Amino acid sequence: MYTKEKIKDLQVDTKEWLKDSNGIAVQKNNLEDLRNILRFHEHRYYVENNPLISDFEYDQLYKKLENFEKEYPELITKDSPTQRVGTSLIKDFPKTRHLVPMLSLENSYNEEDLKDWDRKAKELSGLDEIEYTVEPKFDGASISLVYENNLLTRGVTRGDGEIGDDITPNIFQIKAIPLSAPFDTINIQQIEIRGEILINKDNFKKYNESLMEEGIPPLANPRNAAAGSLRIKDTAVVRKRNLEGFLYHVSYILNVQEDKKGSIHSHSEMLEMLRKFGFRTPQQELKVLKGIHAVIKEVHEFEKQRDQLPYEIDGMVIKVNDLELQEKLGMTSHHPRWAIAFKFKARQATSKLLSVEFQVGRTGAVTPVAKIQPVALGGVTVSSISIHNEDYINEKDLMLGDNILIERSGDVIPQIVKSLPELRDGHEKKIAFPKECPICKQALYKTAEEAVWRCININCKAQVLERIIHFVSKDAMDIKSFGEANVRKFFEMNLLKDIPGIYELDIAKLKSLEGFGEKSISNLQEAIEKSKHQPLHRFIYSLGIRYVGETTAKTIAQHIHHILDLQKLSVEELMKLDDVGVKVGASIHEFFQNNDNILMLKKLEDLGIQPEIKQLEKMDGNLSGQTFLFTGTLTTFKRSEAESMVEKHGGKILSGVSSKLNYLIAGEDAGSKLEKAKKIPGIKILSEEDFKKLLSV
Ligand code: IVH
Repeated sequence: MYTKEKIKDLQVDTKEWLKDSNGIAVQKNNLEDLRNILRFHEHRYYVENNPLISDFEYDQLYKKLENFEKEYPELITKDSPTQRVGTSLIKDFPKTRHLVPMLSLENSYNEEDLKDWDRKAKELSGLDEIEYTVEPKFDGASISLVYENNLLTRGVTRGDGEIGDDITPNIFQIKAIPLSAPFDTINIQQIEIRGEILINKDNFKKYNESLMEEGIPPLANPRNAAAGSLRIKDTAVVRKRNLEGFLYHVSYILNVQEDKKGSIHSHSEMLEMLRKFGFRTPQQELKVLKGIHAVIKEVHEFEKQRDQLPYEIDGMVIKVNDLELQEKLGMTSHHPRWAIAFKFKARQATSKLLSVEFQVGRTGAVTPVAKIQPVALGGVTVSSISIHNEDYINEKDLMLGDNILIERSGDVIPQIVKSLPELRDGHEKKIAFPKECPICKQALYKTAEEAVWRCININCKAQVLERIIHFVSKDAMDIKSFGEANVRKFFEMNLLKDIPGIYELDIAKLKSLEGFGEKSISNLQEAIEKSKHQPLHRFIYSLGIRYVGETTAKTIAQHIHHILDLQKLSVEELMKLDDVGVKVGASIHEFFQNNDNILMLKKLEDLGIQPEIKQLEKMDGNLSGQTFLFTGTLTTFKRSEAESMVEKHGGKILSGVSSKLNYLIAGEDAGSKLEKAKKIPGIKILSEEDFKKLLSV
């Protein structure tokens, strides 16, 4: 779709639009230019994974379009990049019939299966050798998209293959899927395209981490995450999942003219057409090969790269390349004869649930951990699996002695997919959840909203120990050479009782321990010393405050200068921070209202813990929770633009000077507001230059 010349033009145009920050009134016919520039950059980012401009520049252009469209709402088009957004709550997903039924693929598991399939195809076609394509079998949720007169008009889940759910508003949230494409240029009036919606491994990991921070069991695999995300009834939530999509098959074309597929004669050409029109296709991974032997070689080669891919695949799909030959081979009642899936080694295995141990975490949550018959899976031996909480045990219908199906995809933590109750022989036993803490023996509690039972004895040894382990861990204070094993050892020997104890270790006593030579002791001392000046966000995270994961800790760190600043913030004030809702806010508040915690923090300070504070300039453009007011004349920005930049970065614009104001940006000839602000302590007065620094522009 984009030639070198066109990209050059667009780069020049982008610069023009970015330069034009005084907001010269847009010519109505320029509006589509701006949209095209945005579409181009979305394509570079989401489809090609190769952006040409920064997120900030993109946001500026986007805001510009949004403002112009607000001014001329009659000029908004259905495929404008702004039309993806707009929060909408979906009531129902209407049932919709696919234009062509979505068949599934025949599976193959070894070379023999592939050779058999090839033999049959050759017999049916009368050919000696067939040209095949080989591409990844994406492990996500399949969808079909319909474009009519160039516009994306609907997206439907597979459903039962005939009828699926119309999830169009959610498909609009996936930026890799174009809202329009120039099908008219090749006479196509209506087209149905199939593909797979995925969540990449990184985003899946982040999503699972956020679930676990909330005490919710993580999802077993990215496929479930993608399928589940498509069924969420709030488009704003769907947008945050960062779904991606690959399109790999055209199932229906309605041409304006007779020539059915125009100049497209093969699957590879069809994908090339889709790619040119802005779709993400498996083009880079696609191989066109003659004969089944070359195919077999390729699938084995590709399997080796499986773990390096950013998304999950569960095999390869082999297709007859020639479309006419595809038609000739036709379908069985279940699947096409012209395609077959080659499945990679399963990442599932069966095992037996032998026993359950109950572990007490640093927040007192009692987690049942299933000990299972060891089984090799995805390169590691799995012998224990978290089974999260009592509800989870009931939902999965787990019993001691059960046969279970387990799964581990990529670097994902192993999960129990299900129990296999049909294999029970009557010897299975119910899993009894303890009523008291397995360590300190105090009664466990559970609130109505939560699924976990907790030991609420804050001095419970198990909790204290886990808190220390968390404090020294890699993502927290990263006290190298301390490690979980040493913490346990020192704790058991009473050399270490609490977190401040890390900085008061009796080195002389360590020297008498077996395995602690001069070198390891000096390494340990060095690591402890170094940790005293870790960045503030690490220190916050290391405290193990409930619901405060690394991301939240980073947000908090950007808004305080000293850990004890948090003691002064109300739940409401905390909630002004990005990602801090009432639950997280209340948890932080509770932590800093607890006297023992404050004493511990003061003690740590006395022991020399002085976390590194990042300056505001390094705020990464994050103004979340901060309030702003502009006064006087700005020279680089229009007032409205500066205000929308603040909002885009999470800040808020106030209408007047008051004690709630954090920043007053004073331009030229600032008057009474500036005078008033000077009198109120706490308001920071910035010049336009300072403001730009704050946003790092
Ligand atoms: S072609 C009519 N290509 O695998 C044939 N399917 O088990 C259309 N899948 O239902 C399917 N990657 O959801 C095709 N590159 C790929 C695929 C793929 C994943 C899914 C698809 C299909 C299922 C069959």
